[in-house]
Amino acid sequence: MENVDYPNSTKDVKIPTDPIEKVIGQDEAIKYVRIAAAQKRHILLVGAPGTGKSMIGQAMASLLPKPNFEISVIDNPEHPERPFLEIRSRLDVENEKKIPKGKLIKPVDVPIMVAERMGLRCKRCGSISKPEIPVCPNCGSDKYKSHTSPFDDIVFGGNAREDKVYTTEVINGKEEKVLYEYKGGHVYVYDERALSNREQASVPRNVIVSLNRSIFVQATGASETELLGDVRHDPYGGHSEIGTKPFKRVVPGAIHEAHEGVLFIDELSNLGALQRHLLTAMQEKRFAITGRNPTSSGASVRVDNVPCDFILIGALNFGDIGTLLPPLRSRILGNGFEVLMNTVMEDNPKNVKKIVQFIAQEIMADGRIPHANSKAIEVIINEARKRARVYDSKEGLTLRLRDLAGIIKLAGDFATIDESEYIEEKHVLLAIEKAKPIEQQMQKKYGSLWRSTASDYGISHAPDEHVF
Ligand SMILES: Nc1ncnc2c1ncn2[C@@H]1O[C@H](COP(=O)(O)OP(=O)(O)OP(=O)(O)O)[C@@H](O)[C@H]1O
Ligand SMILES: [Mg+2]
Repeated sequence: MENVDYPNSTKDVKIPTDPIEKVIGQDEAIKYVRIAAAQKRHILLVGAPGTGKSMIGQAMASLLPKPNFEISVIDNPEHPERPFLEIRSRLDVENEKKIPKGKLIKPVDVPIMVAERMGLRCKRCGSISKPEIPVCPNCGSDKYKSHTSPFDDIVFGGNAREDKVYTTEVINGKEEKVLYEYKGGHVYVYDERALSNREQASVPRNVIVSLNRSIFVQATGASETELLGDVRHDPYGGHSEIGTKPFKRVVPGAIHEAHEGVLFIDELSNLGALQRHLLTAMQEKRFAITGRNPTSSGASVRVDNVPCDFILIGALNFGDIGTLLPPLRSRILGNGFEVLMNTVMEDNPKNVKKIVQFIAQEIMADGRIPHANSKAIEVIINEARKRARVYDSKEGLTLRLRDLAGIIKLAGDFATIDESEYIEEKHVLLAIEKAKPIEQQMQKKYGSLWRSTASDYGISHAPDEHVF
């Protein structure tokens, strides 16, 4: 055994904040993940369960810049079943938030005609008062009644108060449309630019891929709609009054949500026939969203060319590699890397320290269990050695870390029940015992597996047990 000084407890262990540095023993995979993030390449992670594939996928997303585009679907009034796609950059979206406010203007500066129509200025005496007050406080005349001729009401269609008045003004030698608006006790004026921004902002849009999305998207591949998107059914068939308009029913797939980010697919081989669609999406970087249930009213709706430019991380068990569609595999290989996950790492002081870091990480991540003392740490490390031997017939430290994490948490629970300040050796030993697969527990209890099954059937010993 190597001579290593364990810390007094995991309390003294420094845990990295960078998610990439939390992954231990997979240096090769990390190396490729860094390249893939910088160069936008795909990755296939092949290997045993619980060795950090999902963890690496998540960490990779942290290496990517934040997304720059928002994708929305907007109504196409001419042809509602072919909604328009709208792609706006972060800058566009932020600028729009800034500009659309009109300019605040003093009531005395509002042009006389406009001020009169708003009820801001008395038509008779010209004094200014709030539009909500119907009678001029200065001359006592009714602001909303005509005074010039008794027939005004008929000729001009009456004099109702107008909160919005459109007019034209000459700005820099050019005639422009201008809006004056009375809102919340103030008058605002919008020039043509502010008006068009205001219109833009008020376009009803269905933002299907937002700017503040998570760029790590995990798909199980269990359903076609989850991966590729869908258009929801509307029992009213998108009827203009009672139905929901088609553009509002468009739902993105994981491939779209992962635009500019990472699409992580576990058990890539489970995708089956969907692998073909995934391949198309990777080649085109665009994929139409359409209703995928032929009996639904969504089936007639379609948005073409929805962007889906993602980095694929596919995870796979070694045995399943044959079920991968060859063109998909070659697509990944031709534009990325295949990495075999390690299951064991060399037993040296540096790596022992990494296991110590891992123990501390797991305890901190759990949040409800106490720290482990130095003796407990030593027992866990010995278990990591034993597991390398048992599961991989190798000398070293196991990297099948989900299982080891399970033992740490279980030991933590025993320590908590004990009201112990630390996880101690005895808690770890108990956890190791409890975590043994049920077959091993039965073997220990009954001497042999055979005997244990026999006792289930009330047989005191197996008939030809002596043969074994
Ligand atoms: N290399 C590692 N470094 C640090 N912790 C790890 C590592 N591998 C696994 N773990 C721990 O085990 C947990 C499970 O790992 P993860 O989900 O990444 O495994 P996986 O390879 O994706 O497994 P599966 O094939 O079952 O999906 C992690 O959340 C982490 O706590
Ligand atoms: Mg996983």
